[in-house]
Amino acid sequence: MKLGVNIDHVATLRQARGTSYPDPLDAAIICARAGADNITAHLREDRRHIQDDDIYRIKNLQSLPLNLEMANSESILQIALEVSPSEVCIVPEKRQELTTEGGLNIKYNFNFLKEMLPNLYKNNIEVSLFLDPDIQNIGVCKELGINAVEFHTGEIANAFGEEEKFLINKLKNVIEYTATLGISIRAGHGLNFDKTKKIINIKYLEELNIGHFIIGESIFYGLSEVVKKMKKIIG
Ligand code: PXP
Repeated sequence: MKLGVNIDHVATLRQARGTSYPDPLDAAIICARAGADNITAHLREDRRHIQDDDIYRIKNLQSLPLNLEMANSESILQIALEVSPSEVCIVPEKRQELTTEGGLNIKYNFNFLKEMLPNLYKNNIEVSLFLDPDIQNIGVCKELGINAVEFHTGEIANAFGEEEKFLINKLKNVIEYTATLGISIRAGHGLNFDKTKKIINIKYLEELNIGHFIIGESIFYGLSEVVKKMKKIIG
């Protein structure tokens, strides 16, 4: 299974002071050396953490594939086409939210997606949709010709006991169904060491994208050590 490290929160710390450090590019380079498989960064419309320049530098000045998270936005699409990351993950975005609070409403975004997808595919950019683990979403993916999805694990991250077990089982069932359609499957949001251990054995899960916990732990243990530990857990 692959590990994608979301480095947005390095930029969050930098933007809090308006300094030039800590630099998310440096974080990406350290993640690469520690064994991460790709770098995820979300260029939000409000530019609250990652800035345009970060995206160009991360794409061009380090070795890992860039997974650019972006909302349903024409202006960000133009940047994505110019930067040409390996992959784009389409996510929902609200200005007031603290973080991405759920999966994309695929039906509401259907027309936008239908229009934008050929532009991305034409430029050899792989596309995944960030979705709640709900079987109804998967039928729409097929209609759109989507071949990769990332399931939102935020609910699992916040659940314990029986509720957690129920949600993990639901994720497993949706993943099994999604895999029968030949769609590549990732997951992420709110994962820490413990939650990661609970979902890594789900068959067909190819990649986890983890940010906030890794960057938070790195304050105490160093980014390289935390990435290595997470990588060892996911195998
Ligand atoms: N995957 C996607 C699509 C996300 O939007 C985020 C959060 O930006 C993550 C993964 C990582 O979530 P977290 O920072 O909670 O680990």
